[in-house]
Amino acid sequence: MPLTDMTDTTKDDTMHADTHTSGRPPRLTVVGTGYLGATHAVCMATLGYQVLGVDVDAAKVEALVDGRVPFHEPGLPQALDEALASGRLDFTTDFARAADFGDIHFLCVGTPQQPGSHAADLRFVDDAAAQLAARITRPALIVGKSTVPVGTAARLRELVRTLSPAGEGLELAWNPEFLREGFAVQDTLRPDRLVFGVASAHAEQALRQVYDPLLEEGTPLIVADLPTSELVKVAANSFLATKISYINAMAEVCEAVDADVGVLARALALDERIGGRFLRPGLGFGGGCLPKDIRAFQHRAQEIGAGEAVRFLDDVDAINARRRTRTVDMVRDLAGGELLGTRVAALGAAFKPNSDDVRDSPALDVARRLQLEGADVVVYDPEAAENAHRVHPDLPLAASLSEALDGSHVTVLLTEWEEFQAAQPEALGALVSRRRVLDARHALDGDRYLEAGWEYRTLGRPVTAGVGSPRGRSEPGPGEQEQLLPTAPAPSAQAAPLRL
Ligand code: UGA
Repeated sequence: MPLTDMTDTTKDDTMHADTHTSGRPPRLTVVGTGYLGATHAVCMATLGYQVLGVDVDAAKVEALVDGRVPFHEPGLPQALDEALASGRLDFTTDFARAADFGDIHFLCVGTPQQPGSHAADLRFVDDAAAQLAARITRPALIVGKSTVPVGTAARLRELVRTLSPAGEGLELAWNPEFLREGFAVQDTLRPDRLVFGVASAHAEQALRQVYDPLLEEGTPLIVADLPTSELVKVAANSFLATKISYINAMAEVCEAVDADVGVLARALALDERIGGRFLRPGLGFGGGCLPKDIRAFQHRAQEIGAGEAVRFLDDVDAINARRRTRTVDMVRDLAGGELLGTRVAALGAAFKPNSDDVRDSPALDVARRLQLEGADVVVYDPEAAENAHRVHPDLPLAASLSEALDGSHVTVLLTEWEEFQAAQPEALGALVSRRRVLDARHALDGDRYLEAGWEYRTLGRPVTAGVGSPRGRSEPGPGEQEQLLPTAPAPSAQAAPLRL
């Protein structure tokens, strides 16, 4: 929707009546400027709104004001530049300014796992809501986007109304976010669906107005009550985690009988009812979302007396953890049974490619375990080195792929960066001491590695399936596999930000 249309407020004046915006489009604040909040703030400005991002971290605010995105997210730096240049986006640490500025306030702060518990840590959500509410003096809407245990939104609705001088004039809604790191801009501007969790018609109307540009483009909308909207998010992430662990459980079975999980996954994916997305076997899931979300869901389910219903998520988590152990075991096998003194090139530290996020990263976890067993590990990641160093300062990092491979006895691919997939096995072979590779992400072309004289192993597949190939004759190469088992689109296919 063009910007000029957005200022045409004659179509729906409900929001203006209720929030006293006097005929202008609502002004937005976005509290929390991490992956979710920074992306949301930039995208809302891209859609034509005046947006103020708020964070307690002055360094983050300073970086964003200077046009620097403090994490790796393809497409976001350019979108930030354009939004800042438009004059519609600013950032602050000042909650009073935010409360005064905004008609609609999005809460995008983190809900990490509590130390020593599976529960979500709601301190940041509670603080942000309270800080804001205490300063909001006129009718406004707070919209939670963070992933929270069911029941949080209803509790916060009461809390903010009690704290705010605006009282009942302050409304709260929930609008879960489904963006993937690495595709954050695209997922925000062209989401699969929008979910509005609301407790009043006013909240629904305000959300409809703010998301009108996306609704106009045909984005499906689900309007729900507050608890259902909270559950949609955790149910979605639990389903995705379950699908990944399902195929990895099949990998375990395949390993017991020398069957090939790559071929199995391909055959399953051709059944449209099953589908190939999130059916890619390998080292399993990590990151700041799926692992902690399935644990927090279980924890909350127990609290509300529905623990049995999601007990299976324990297994989903356990299967995922076993893939990491299996990877360490296979590296040890490739090293001849002894890791002490073995030089291992660990390729990847990020939890997935196109991200510098190392939170609960399977890659970093495996590298660290190999090191603890006495291996001489060198890690290389194109983007996540700095974050990896922050978490494990004593884990040696290489500045390049060739530096990591130099003299290695075993190479293990842990994150499927394009750089690793594009590398030539022959050229890599010239760098290493021994041509032995474990492909823990099913990302390399095993035939080419075998042809180049490498010992090639991967999870869930026989050492030599088919004739001379670890993948077996009928399985396509990585490029074709991507079509049959579509995961995320290639970064190059990422849509450009909407221009208005
Ligand atoms: C995930 C969800 O996909 C998003 O929809 C959600 O909004 C987000 O969490 C969130 O809660 O904020 P993200 O954490 O960015 O997004 O990462 P994913 O793309 O889901 O990947 C998660 C992990 O699963 C990665 O470690 C990836 O390597 C692994 N994975 C994914 C597999 O092992 N196999 C697959 O087939 C797919």
